[in-house]
Amino acid sequence: MARIELAKVVKRYGAVEAIHGVDLEIGDGEFVAFVGPSGCGKSTMLRMIAGLEEISGGTLRIGEAVVNDVEPKGRDVAMVFQDYALYPHMSVAQNIGFGLKMRGEAPEVIRQKVEEAARILQLEDYLDRKPGQLSGGQRQRVAMGRAIVRKPKVFLFDEPLSNLDAKLRVEMRTQIKRLHRMLRTTTIYVTHDQVEAMTLADRVVVLRGGNLIQHGRPLELYERPNCRFVAEFIGSPQMNILPGTVISSDGSPAVELDGGAMVRTPGLAAEPGRKVDVGIRPEHIEACSEAEADLVVDVDVLEELGSDTLAICLWAGRELTVRLPAGPGSSFGSNLGLAARTRLPLRFRRDCLHVFDAQTGVRL
Ligand SMILES: Nc1ncnc2c1ncn2[C@@H]1O[C@H](COP(=O)(O)OP(=O)(O)OP(=O)(O)O)[C@@H](O)[C@H]1O
Ligand SMILES: [Mg+2]
Repeated sequence: MARIELAKVVKRYGAVEAIHGVDLEIGDGEFVAFVGPSGCGKSTMLRMIAGLEEISGGTLRIGEAVVNDVEPKGRDVAMVFQDYALYPHMSVAQNIGFGLKMRGEAPEVIRQKVEEAARILQLEDYLDRKPGQLSGGQRQRVAMGRAIVRKPKVFLFDEPLSNLDAKLRVEMRTQIKRLHRMLRTTTIYVTHDQVEAMTLADRVVVLRGGNLIQHGRPLELYERPNCRFVAEFIGSPQMNILPGTVISSDGSPAVELDGGAMVRTPGLAAEPGRKVDVGIRPEHIEACSEAEADLVVDVDVLEELGSDTLAICLWAGRELTVRLPAGPGSSFGSNLGLAARTRLPLRFRRDCLHVFDAQTGVRL
């Protein structure tokens, strides 16, 4: 059993509090990603769980045991770092087997386990090489091999792919996902890349300034962010945010956007006059006729991605990103006849609007 439970966990570095009392439960076998901007406390959280950093307050449990004062060795967790931390003078096989050797396992057992890990990670042909003779992705797999041979209760990854190029990162992502499916080891994965978090994790935990802001299944965060920060952090390209004021239109709630347009917001429970930010994702805006339009924008830049087209538009001095069906140069999809500077009437999908309090950023 390797569930993890954090209760009111605090970390202080001297007088500075870096983690302000985080509560979180991670289920046995669950894959959880910690995301958030630089300095929000992701590595600190991970290092406290690993035992590399002392916990200043609260309780940490791994399995059923409180491990606040248990040494890293006694926690049965394996950590994979960004810089791999391989021993350059040892072969791949020796690197993978190092932890087992330290634990005093028999050479025959070590050989067997190293071979098994190498098979899983497709490193069989490289076992005699030194790390210096490997590519970045291969080194990363060696670091993972070293973690998996120990069959730990918990895997902790701290931005393990950030030194790899974009293509390799995507490949390794798939491999990590397969690995988790195969081993079902409880995993915490730190990244500042929200796409990596969304694609890998069963559950994403968003941190900001040492606080847990929201956690949930990837699509939960995407579809119902609890605040503007999560709304803007999750999703690429970013959610559009348009400031405005709550009004009442024919007795039903609406928002008058700064710049003059009005959007209806059925079900919004906020008093007229309240300053708000309306959020809408690029894929929830569609081109329409002038008569149906919520607003008419000027197309500024078109990014044709093949699968679809991103139109960066200008409206009331603000940028608005719209994801349109594959367009104008494509033989597929609809040809909207777009070009830079075209006027484009747009409609918001009503069920996809997000409204946040302008001051606190909290979802209304
Ligand atoms: N040893 C330390 N002494 C003092 N402050 C520290 C120490 N380690 C981290 N901090 C502070 O704690 C906060 C959280 O740092 P942490 O390394 O956990 O951030 P992070 O989310 O991992 O960021 P990044 O994405 O840049 O790796 C930061 O403000 C950092 O300056
Ligand atoms: Mg970090």
